[in-house]
Amino acid sequence: MSWRHSRQDLLPYVICHYFIVLLTFLYLLNCATKAFALTNTTTQQTKYPHAAIYEAHAIEYLNKSSTLMQSIWTRRRNSFFSLTTKGRGYNVVNQAPIKQEIENDYRHLVRELAINLSTIPVMQLQDPILRRRVKRLAKLQLYGLSDEDYEEAKNLLHTMQTFITTRMVCSLGDCQQTLSMVPSILNHVVRTKNLADLEYFWREWRSVLADRDRAKSAFISYVRLLRLAAYYNGHITPSRTWYLYYDTDNFQRELEDVVWEIMPLYQELHAYLLKCVRSTYGEKLNANEGAIPAHVLEQIIRQAWSSRTVFRTPYPKNQLPTVKQRLEEILVTTVKIIKKSAEFFESLGLNHMSDSFYDRFSRRIGDEELGPDCRAEVFYFPPDAALRYCPKLDYKKLMQIHGNMAELQYNIYRGRLPFGVDSEPCPGFASGIGEAAVIASGTPRHLNQLHILFNHSLNEEQSMNRLFRMGIHTILAIPQYFVNDKFLVDVMDGHIGAQDLNCGYWNLQNKYAGIVPPMRRNEKTFDPDFKFYRGLNPEKPNTVKLLSEILGYQFYRAFCLASEQYRPGDPEYPLHNCDFYGSTKAGDLMKQMMEAGATKHWRDLMEIATGERKLSGKGVMEYFAPLYTWLKEENKKNSVEPGWESETRCSKDYYTPS
Ligand SMILES: *[C@@H]1O[C@H](CO)[C@@H](O)[C@H](O)[C@H]1NC(C)=O
Ligand SMILES: *[C@@H]1O[C@H](CO)[C@@H](O)[C@H](O)[C@H]1NC(C)=O
Ligand SMILES: *[C@@H]1O[C@H](CO)[C@@H](O)[C@H](O)[C@H]1NC(C)=O
Ligand SMILES: *[C@@H]1O[C@H](CO)[C@@H](O)[C@H](O)[C@H]1NC(C)=O
Repeated sequence: MSWRHSRQDLLPYVICHYFIVLLTFLYLLNCATKAFALTNTTTQQTKYPHAAIYEAHAIEYLNKSSTLMQSIWTRRRNSFFSLTTKGRGYNVVNQAPIKQEIENDYRHLVRELAINLSTIPVMQLQDPILRRRVKRLAKLQLYGLSDEDYEEAKNLLHTMQTFITTRMVCSLGDCQQTLSMVPSILNHVVRTKNLADLEYFWREWRSVLADRDRAKSAFISYVRLLRLAAYYNGHITPSRTWYLYYDTDNFQRELEDVVWEIMPLYQELHAYLLKCVRSTYGEKLNANEGAIPAHVLEQIIRQAWSSRTVFRTPYPKNQLPTVKQRLEEILVTTVKIIKKSAEFFESLGLNHMSDSFYDRFSRRIGDEELGPDCRAEVFYFPPDAALRYCPKLDYKKLMQIHGNMAELQYNIYRGRLPFGVDSEPCPGFASGIGEAAVIASGTPRHLNQLHILFNHSLNEEQSMNRLFRMGIHTILAIPQYFVNDKFLVDVMDGHIGAQDLNCGYWNLQNKYAGIVPPMRRNEKTFDPDFKFYRGLNPEKPNTVKLLSEILGYQFYRAFCLASEQYRPGDPEYPLHNCDFYGSTKAGDLMKQMMEAGATKHWRDLMEIATGERKLSGKGVMEYFAPLYTWLKEENKKNSVEPGWESETRCSKDYYTPS
């Protein structure tokens, strides 16, 4: 790996180095004072003779930056209004350069501030809030790079996103027409029952990416820049910068522990699904070592909520009631859905969404921008928080909007905190809280409260079918997020070498997920799936997806216990049908966490709700407990052994399906 530096690049490092020398000197001075003068060293003044000066500098930098941030927020607010002013010809395209300019100014500001703050020895600051502000703002991820390197990183990320959305794979037997992974190939994958088609798309997408090492070389260049950002932070292990805000020595280990905690449930589901797809595809499916081929896994995940599936739901004759028609009758418009989800949070005792919010800060996304995967967007420019939403009306959107509303609530609370701690305590924390609300909003009990379902619970068979589909969606995803995150981090930290990247990837897939490639692979290709590329963006990494899933169920369990809508042991109040709507006890916990922003460590904040200081799979395990029991019995009945052979040998053609 070669490092290119300009002098500007080295600036923070040089300053940092200078201060290490200075600190060492002060430390020695302090020791000498202790040893020879025997003064009272517990007094702050003697211990840190320059603390007051550092503190004054820190406050000065922060005050100045806060003022500059105000003007950036004002510009963001104006851009939001321009984006959403009706009939003026403004749209995303002609707002893009303005948005870009604001983001550049923001990046320059935080970079300059970080350089300034890196001269402050954090430990010497007395005020704990000031200490946290300095600590959080003094180190950066990609924003710590020089303009040139940052641009390169951005271009690489852009290139890798085009792998997902560019039409580059020949359609089946017809190269006049080309398809993109999202949405075309995935749409095909969800429908087909032809294994050869699955294989074709799986292989072709990867062979296009292997042409002139496109994917691998972009990835390696990108990793070089992530390492450079870590180097500026003085991190010898580059993943410390990737996991910067988790403030934990071996954060990946903590994630891994949760994956293993959930593994017994994952293995039962995995074994059940393997039996299903074997009976669907018969002998053609190579799966003799107890693992599921990657292309079939993709199909299963895509079909989580489909009516025609390659797997068998627990009670096929007793499918879930459709809510579409009632939902359209009751909720009528998207604005009504937004108001219902706002009411969810108001019922917990959180902020009331005022008329001015609906008049000025809640806007519909224009028709010209509506893609197949239209997603709402939440904005932060305190004191206001704003929303752009999709004019779509379905069950999924109803649930998702509760996540957006949680983020809006969070933005209102954190906007009152000083710059630097006006954020979530770690990435994924806010969406974890949102996820808890999303889960509650989709329960039969809540749909009944909205008069969409006539009964507050499904019958037992339907309830199992619902848990099963939720399980496909959630339990299969957890090891995938973990593998994608770990693969990036292991490459970054040098645990996986450049000469066996692909084998390293399949090793992880095999070990943590029981997934194998559908055909023989070697180092000529680079096989990670499209979600891996999505997660390379530090704005929405796989780390955050994984964490918000785990925290989501942990918070959900905590809010449900607080509201007494979950009563362990009582079949009337199982965790999977808990709706904490209307519970100010749950709301208080949520509010306390939101109000604290990043003023405390995320462990201190999660403890408020969960009473625990560590990530745990308990929420997931208790939620899916009835499914776990059902799967164990079903597998036993069918003499299916959960688990798989877990070894991938890195040789010339290291994977050969038996
Ligand atoms: C050091 O000073 C503090 C306050 O000035 C006092 O409370 C403490 O007892 C002193 N400790 C010793 C060992 O003299
Ligand atoms: C920084 O700003 C705070 C609040 O705006 C103010 O009270 C304080 O005096 C300012 N400090 C300096 C050093 O400018
Ligand atoms: C950084 O420090 C320089 C020199 O003291 C000062 O001119 C500049 O305004 C500071 N910038 C920020 C964002 O703190
Ligand atoms: C609601 O569903 C439960 C469980 O299936 C059933 O026992 C109960 O009678 C139903 N209530 C109504 C009002 O239909």
